[in-house]
Amino acid sequence: MEITVFGTGYVGLVTGVCFAEIGHNVTCFDIDENKINTLSKGKCPIYEPGLEEMLKRNLSEGRLNFTSESKKACHKADYIFVAVGTPENEDGSANLEYLEAAIAEIGMNLIRDAIIVIKSTVPVGTNERILKLLNETIESELRVKVISNPEFLREGSGILDTFHADRVVIGTDDPDAGSAVAKLYKPFGRPILQTDVRSAELIKYASNAFLATKISFINEVANLCEHTGANIEDVAKGMGMDERIGRQFLKAGIGYGGSCFPKDTKALEKLTEYYDYDFKILRSVIEVNSRQKQQLFYKAKEMFGSFQGKRVAVLGLAFKPHTDDIREAPAIELIARLLEEHADISVYDPAASGNVENLFGSLLYYADQVDTAIKGADAVFILTEWPQIMQYDLERFPLLMRQPIVFDGRNCYDLKHAEAAGLTYISVGRNAVNVHASLKGLKY
Ligand SMILES: NC(=O)c1ccc[n+]([C@@H]2O[C@H](COP(=O)([O-])OP(=O)(O)OC[C@H]3O[C@@H](n4cnc5c(N)ncnc54)[C@H](O)[C@@H]3O)[C@@H](O)[C@H]2O)c1
Repeated sequence: MEITVFGTGYVGLVTGVCFAEIGHNVTCFDIDENKINTLSKGKCPIYEPGLEEMLKRNLSEGRLNFTSESKKACHKADYIFVAVGTPENEDGSANLEYLEAAIAEIGMNLIRDAIIVIKSTVPVGTNERILKLLNETIESELRVKVISNPEFLREGSGILDTFHADRVVIGTDDPDAGSAVAKLYKPFGRPILQTDVRSAELIKYASNAFLATKISFINEVANLCEHTGANIEDVAKGMGMDERIGRQFLKAGIGYGGSCFPKDTKALEKLTEYYDYDFKILRSVIEVNSRQKQQLFYKAKEMFGSFQGKRVAVLGLAFKPHTDDIREAPAIELIARLLEEHADISVYDPAASGNVENLFGSLLYYADQVDTAIKGADAVFILTEWPQIMQYDLERFPLLMRQPIVFDGRNCYDLKHAEAAGLTYISVGRNAVNVHASLKGLKY
């Protein structure tokens, strides 16, 4: 069986490489020629643990190839997986222009029957529209089927998540096409759920919205902890021990970011508007998150008054550890604010500095280790819980900074350790530590 994957981003590339790994012949197509050139040389353009080794192995064993010619990509394909981006429009709805362009390209180049599998996250009803579009463009003797197969992998553990997926969702009203796609996944040995198309589309949005709800909920509880003097770590632990609640996604912090939760919650909200349904919880989840992303800045602003001429270090730029993705990362918003305040900013991230440099250029100083980033700083902001930051020797903050004031949006450190190291340490949902009266605007 010949598989083609349209789009070699976080999802498409991981999908293509993993399908090759289990023995399928895979051709990956992307409109970005630079990316295709890089990939053809066995180099991975994104940071995803384990991906480059697997990519190299499958390239050299001949099961995987890359092309920027759509004709080549479509001619042999039995299955075409579409994993192009569906980013956010200005009004929050899903932007389907990349998907529509990919479908047009497939329609023009298809010369045999094929099953088109949509991995991109798309609003309910999109797969039906895609089938219509395709049927309008393909040669009349050809037969295509469109299957919804939403993706649930997490950046930073894409390969692991593909090989150990909790479920593979296959949405179709055509049982034969559904079984054919299920067969492709069989070697992974993961549970397969077959549903109708619309349910599959909604499973993806509802899952992300539910996880985002857990995050916003625990962040609200964290804010309440700050008012009441409770400790969010203990509260979350106690809640998570209840199996009905579960431990995951109960980590309070500076809010969710990344390429999925922010856009998918907003796209779902748009969908509810279209159907004239008021999804109250979802609206609150989005609102709480946008407020949460600003919390740390306001705490710092209260203490510092002005950042003019202050040296500030931002540790962690990616939206989460083990990825270089900075889409909707809390760090980006914070840096923009600090720049407006004329702060002098140094940043550190083990993987995402290059992407941040593409955005901010010479406005920031890019450090290649924590030590250099925090040297001489008046304040440190922690925005991603990379191991390099979590395991950093706390004694070095007072040693290297002008004043050891740390605003931690990820609760990386134990309060007692921070106190013992002499840090002024402000985290989320926990008591502030060592906040001396001499610090301006004292509130904590
Ligand atoms: N990133 C994640 O963690 C994740 C997880 C689950 C689902 N998703 C969903 O999967 C989809 C892809 O996300 P991503 O993060 O991999 O996107 P991405 O932005 O990393 O990659 C998209 C790729 O598609 C390519 N592309 C754009 N138009 C194309 C076309 N017409 N033909 C071929 N290639 C084209 C781009 O050049 C890019 O390489 C989105 O709908 C997203 O919501 C993403």
